[in-house]
Amino acid sequence: MLSQKTVDAIYALQKRYPEKRSALIPALHIAQDEAGYLPHEVQEEVAKLFGLDTTEVHAIVTFYDMFFEEPVGDTIIHVCKNASCMLRGCDEMLQKLCHKLNIKPGETTSDGKYTIIASECLGACDRAPMMLVGETVVGPVTDIDRVLENG
Ligand code: FES
Repeated sequence: MLSQKTVDAIYALQKRYPEKRSALIPALHIAQDEAGYLPHEVQEEVAKLFGLDTTEVHAIVTFYDMFFEEPVGDTIIHVCKNASCMLRGCDEMLQKLCHKLNIKPGETTSDGKYTIIASECLGACDRAPMMLVGETVVGPVTDIDRVLENG
């Protein structure tokens, strides 16, 4: 269940847009910041705050890979798999990272520290091959061990 502070923040966001529905994505980020992920009950609660059907919120949550329906690790590592990064070796980089953490893309390490997500273009093609470690853009990545040391 969302705290009153989060509900108030979502109401405040809604007031910043001519159509409150436009605030849905940032509202989901706020809800996820509090809950760590967006289980069905939280999606339902957010939907009520917007006067929407839960299926509409669910469609957004499942479309974007920045939203999670299951618990994730403390640090989420998005590895870009798009064209520029692919041409500069992201597949090998992802493979090394998965091997190092002993998980596959979409999984979380047993200690709950990291989740790896294979992502579409993250908007930093000039830093290919790149990844987003938490909120930090890292790239061009040449040494996976170094990324984890600093992550
Ligand atoms: S293709 Fe990787 S950041 Fe754009």
